[in-house]
Amino acid sequence: MPNLTNADWLERDARYLAPTYHRCFEIVTERAKGAYLYDVEGNQYLDFTMGIAVNNVGHCHPSVVRAAQAQVERLIHCSAVTRHTMNIKLAEKIGQIAPPGLDCVFLNNSGGEAVDAAIKMARFVTGRPNVIAFTGAFHGRTLLATALTTAKSHYRQGYEPLPSGILHAPYPYCLRCPVGQKSGKCKLECFDILESMFAHQVKPDTVGAILIEPMMGEGGYIVPATGYPVENGYMQRLRKLCDKHGIMLIFDEVQSGFGRTGKWFASEHFGVVPDIMIVAKGIASGFPMAGIVSRKELMDRWTMGRHGSTYGGNPVACAAALASIDVIEQEGLLENTRKMGEYFMSRLNEFKSKYSFIKEVRGLGLMIGMEVADESGAPDGELIEKLVEECFKRKLLLLDCGIKNHIIRFVPPLNVTKAEIDKAVSIIEESLPAASSDESKDSKESSNVAQPIA
Ligand SMILES: Cc1ncc(COP(=O)(O)O)c(C=O)c1O
Repeated sequence: MPNLTNADWLERDARYLAPTYHRCFEIVTERAKGAYLYDVEGNQYLDFTMGIAVNNVGHCHPSVVRAAQAQVERLIHCSAVTRHTMNIKLAEKIGQIAPPGLDCVFLNNSGGEAVDAAIKMARFVTGRPNVIAFTGAFHGRTLLATALTTAKSHYRQGYEPLPSGILHAPYPYCLRCPVGQKSGKCKLECFDILESMFAHQVKPDTVGAILIEPMMGEGGYIVPATGYPVENGYMQRLRKLCDKHGIMLIFDEVQSGFGRTGKWFASEHFGVVPDIMIVAKGIASGFPMAGIVSRKELMDRWTMGRHGSTYGGNPVACAAALASIDVIEQEGLLENTRKMGEYFMSRLNEFKSKYSFIKEVRGLGLMIGMEVADESGAPDGELIEKLVEECFKRKLLLLDCGIKNHIIRFVPPLNVTKAEIDKAVSIIEESLPAASSDESKDSKESSNVAQPIA
């Protein structure tokens, strides 16, 4: 068969694959290596998306490839018919790198499934039905995860009635403070709103869990409550509130975990340990793998047979996960993430001082968001769409996020080099004028205060 082009494959894709599964770029990938991805026509793209925060050690890292290949020769699958060595080894390893006390693991296959598992466990163990989640969060596509998700109403519309017993509190998003306070000058009024829900909406002794992303992903790459000191800050108060009322605190670390923020898990930045931690994405470099991690005494109360998964803890995915963790340790990738994250943010902040529509460059490690607004301070998704398009023309892949798609999320591999960051920065530099062709956007006269999103 002659070499097929992107267009040839796209035609077949459109005919045989369900259109509901949206893809960001109209190219067809053939292979990928490190920070680069190659389409079927041989075009090379610098990939700062990493399969949506999955390929943390870069595409097809040789150690991961070797580990998976070796495992395929030994055992591919045995499900719950017998026990096997690989998920035991992986659970032990996760227990070593997870926050203190979280040393018992349930494994399944995707983030959404793991979110479901966490809520099922919390409801079962506490005997309480209600769950508080946060506005703007994304937790996945299962029906329960959809009910927890409020990143966009688009994710929910058409699927009602959604599972019940779920309430939403405002996320501590300081640039667009949900309660109209000024960052750095507030008294954490957003936390008061959460607390007041117990008086207005739901008795605390009926709440089994509070579920939060310790750094928000899809909803906007938002570091929570940056305008307030971490000590006795939002996350620490959340921990105390849960302890006071016997509520399980669940952290969704699907996007922020496994080194993405420069620590193994984002919770470490806040000095808070959850009761249940949800993991997926970066855990296994692209092999379907996810899970929840909790304390042994809590897991023991989720009794035998109450949950399961045919493929959960698949031996090949476990081998890939163990190899990925090993690469992060052996190659010093947590440190590289911190160093390169700082460097990347400093380069992006150069653009912020030049272009007034860039309202904030924020992040932890290599989980970095750049938010833009129009002259009225409203989120400017159109500008980001153009910027992503201009960068794509120059062979750099970037993703947007946020309610209006008005934020770029930068998700390079954790082993990204300074040269790769410089290359991305120079493509963005070339693309920015074209994306913001309205000259007035270059003026520093417009407001620097972003409006809350209605
Ligand atoms: C924070 C968070 N939770 C859950 C999910 C769902 O994960 P999956 O797509 O593997 O089901 C995602 C996916 O983007 C996520 O970012």
